[in-house]
Amino acid sequence: MFSEAVVLTCERGIQVDAFRFYNPTTLYYGKGQIEKHLAEEVTKIGKRVLLLYGGGSIKRNGLYDKVVGILQNAGVSLFELSGVEPNPRLSTVHKGIAICRENHIDLILAVGGGSVLDCGKAIAMGVKYDGDVWDIYQRKGKATGALPLGTILTLAATGSEMNSGGVITNWETKEKLGGGSPYTFPVFSFCDPENTYTVPRDQTVYGICDMLAHCFEHYFHPTRHTPLQQHLIEAVMRTIVENAKTAVENPNDYDARETMMYCSTMALNGMISMGITGDWACHAIEHEISAIYDIPHGGGLAIVFPHWMEHVKNVNPSRFASLAKNVFGVDANGKTDAELADIAIAKVREFYQSIGAPQHLADYQIGDDQLERMASQAVRFGEIGHFKKLGKDDVHKILQAAL
Ligand code: NZQ
Ligand code: ZN
Repeated sequence: MFSEAVVLTCERGIQVDAFRFYNPTTLYYGKGQIEKHLAEEVTKIGKRVLLLYGGGSIKRNGLYDKVVGILQNAGVSLFELSGVEPNPRLSTVHKGIAICRENHIDLILAVGGGSVLDCGKAIAMGVKYDGDVWDIYQRKGKATGALPLGTILTLAATGSEMNSGGVITNWETKEKLGGGSPYTFPVFSFCDPENTYTVPRDQTVYGICDMLAHCFEHYFHPTRHTPLQQHLIEAVMRTIVENAKTAVENPNDYDARETMMYCSTMALNGMISMGITGDWACHAIEHEISAIYDIPHGGGLAIVFPHWMEHVKNVNPSRFASLAKNVFGVDANGKTDAELADIAIAKVREFYQSIGAPQHLADYQIGDDQLERMASQAVRFGEIGHFKKLGKDDVHKILQAAL
């Protein structure tokens, strides 16, 4: 896979029982790495850098000053694009492409959460694409190259720091689509847990829901005989469940923030999911909710997942039974797989409640008026999901249940 685990299974659902693993991102983890290695990593690529960031969190917590100081000392010419939105928009991507072209940018440095990183990937592909980069997300075109992208991650959630995928919203058409290419792996990513200390409580929760969701998407798959993958995914899920509350309640707890950051990277960098075709229906459904209502991705996933689980549990109750036993420590003695499946779903709900995740679409004031549209759009490229293939009616039922 060129993170085929991420891009191919996520977006096209190709069976990868025989697989190629490719992940070229250099990862710098932990304290002090930015000070030691950022200048060297940047300047070996070039001296004209687009600094891309979001709505200002990096200015408020001092990271902006630190990064700018390091790069200016290294003789780098900095160009800036700020204001990347959560659920980053195509219009911002277009602005970034224009800046890169006009200023002969050598490297994009994305500093922020998944939205900033994903925007960086889209700009990087767009600069090298002869046409509108949106084609790539609409599956009407393929990336032909990309500018190098480096990242400094500030929020543990998406895994974008070590994968080649990204998600962009076209706010005019109310579409939110994933896309990527072998060219869009970050060249390097800096992940210092201290840079996540200022992530607000709600975003910490959404991030946790997202990384857990990535594990679920891998875990529920139709591929036969995957014992190691199952245990690796369970290990990440157990670690998330065991440490989440501390990260939410003690934002400056280094160990908890570090554990969450590592879990989020591992959940979607292809390492735990080689050779399996994950499900990804819940992501497709969530993207439709965000596309219209602009809600946080992780919050949408926490709402959708339990209802998807109810909808598909009979396909393979033993997988749910393993979730109950191996992740939530349920004593299986005397219980059928079907009973354990119900317990697993209850445990998932309990976990979401314990960290204060949203549970209903109503929590975001979403009613039933756009269900039809969301269900149609979710299956625009055909049925979704691989654990169980879902058509429009299935999606509609899941959304209805989630109201
Ligand atoms: O914009 P700023 O001011 O930086 O504030 C952000 C934003 O408001 C804030 N934040 C980030 N780091 C912070 C911080 N606030 C204080 N201190 C910090 N250190 O958090 C808010 C949300 O940021 P965002 O980047 O939107 O969150 P997240 O990392 O959850 O990214 C969500 C986006 O990623 C996509 C989602 O669909 C969504 O568009 N995904 C990307 C994936 C990928 N590339 O592999 C996979 C995922 O499944 C997901 O679909
Ligand atoms: Zn996700």
